[in-house]
Amino acid sequence: MVRSAVIGAGFIGLTHIEALRRLGSVDVVALADALGAGEKAAALQVPKGYAGYQELIDHEMPDVVHVCTPNETHFEIAMYALERGIHVVCEKPMAMSVEQARIMTETALAKGVVNAICLINRFYPMAYQMKDMVARGDAGRIFSIGGSYLQDWLMYDTDYNWRLESSRGGATRAVADIGYHWMDLMEFVTGHRITEVCADFSTFHKVRRKPLGSVETFSSATWKAENFTEIPIDTEDYAAFLFHTDGGAHGSCVVSQAVAGRKNQLRLSVAGSRCSLLWDSEDTNSLWVGHRNEANQLYAKDPGILTPEACRYASFPGGHLEGYPDTFKQLFKSFYGMVENRIKDGAPAVGASAGHVPGGGESAAVGGVSAIGGGESANGGGVSASVGKATPEGKGVSAGRDAQQTDISDFRAGLRGMILTEKLLESAGGRRWVSV
Ligand SMILES: NC(=O)c1ccc[n+]([C@@H]2O[C@H](COP(=O)([O-])OP(=O)(O)OC[C@H]3O[C@@H](n4cnc5c(N)ncnc54)[C@H](O)[C@@H]3O)[C@@H](O)[C@H]2O)c1
Repeated sequence: MVRSAVIGAGFIGLTHIEALRRLGSVDVVALADALGAGEKAAALQVPKGYAGYQELIDHEMPDVVHVCTPNETHFEIAMYALERGIHVVCEKPMAMSVEQARIMTETALAKGVVNAICLINRFYPMAYQMKDMVARGDAGRIFSIGGSYLQDWLMYDTDYNWRLESSRGGATRAVADIGYHWMDLMEFVTGHRITEVCADFSTFHKVRRKPLGSVETFSSATWKAENFTEIPIDTEDYAAFLFHTDGGAHGSCVVSQAVAGRKNQLRLSVAGSRCSLLWDSEDTNSLWVGHRNEANQLYAKDPGILTPEACRYASFPGGHLEGYPDTFKQLFKSFYGMVENRIKDGAPAVGASAGHVPGGGESAAVGGVSAIGGGESANGGGVSASVGKATPEGKGVSAGRDAQQTDISDFRAGLRGMILTEKLLESAGGRRWVSV
């Protein structure tokens, strides 16, 4: 069994633990949490609970560390694990700045460890089907790309969470929290890369009422007047942006955490010269295909009609719905397959490769992950963990057990998200188009 540890046992930490247990090949040996680690470990039947991540890592030396804490801690926790040669799964957004994300990416490359950012929308079978249909030309030339990522859990000025504090969540909020997912999925599905952006941000609640106690993610509890304090908000509730891609498409996206009734809806649409495609995360098992001269179609998730590649991410027969928790299982299945290969090979770092980190310089790397935004997949989104040399373009020349192409969003994808996030912030602040 691969030995794994989860740092941060809140909303997403629990999702990770559940998904890891579904794999059957991973032993969650410990968790760390700043609050009530012992009780949380006992409740989850995890053998040990630590108050501090350093203590956990030093005592347990797990094979893999999952970073599931608030954003401002990702960098220090991931770096502590990376420097000890431990494989890392890190939650999104990867870090608080492009600079931190670049250091993490370069360290992971240098250490040759398997690494991933949880950009899990790639693992919905019907989103993957959409990617395959675009890649094989079903949609024709892509004219335009559209979509949104909408939620309502931060709609009232009494809604509160650590994400609202820029010191804990980062300089952007709606974009870093959910827009980051949308941009990753868009580039993964279409194979297009955003080349310039023009963004408009708004903060609907410039002051929020912060409860004096702690608040769980997605909590909708109401609070009495005497139990809160007012604090100013300096991050966006809403972001809209136009963009252009290297494939000649024009796009637009709206991201908001204040749209009543939209609980967690990511919509991605592609309008091409042959047909249109639309995938909606609140209807994850369907894919809509729009036609000009014939009836529109609705694909149902059924392994019998999916492409072989999309089929890899469907664990159940048609009519048996798959959703959010399944995407974590699929991501971790790919990730731990690579980790198991490393462990079988007897060393975390094998071979040597030259890698290019997006937006940065060339970096010498030892084995591990081939560099530059996207490895080998046709669409620039997939990643091949390569054991061997990389071409100057950064395409991995794979030569080992890890050579099978995977779709894991590795640290380079996380860094790409950080770069796009910062560009949107720059554009909104300057009220102008910004090149990426
Ligand atoms: N990939 C996804 O779909 C997805 C979904 C939700 C959240 N996330 C990401 O997961 C991360 C956590 O979000 P959440 O919603 O689970 O938050 P949360 O507040 O529900 O949980 C965070 C947990 O971390 C603990 N913690 C805080 N600082 C710590 C530290 N230094 N060491 C150990 N434990 C610490 C807290 O006590 C809490 O239990 C965020 O980065 C968020 O963006 C990703």
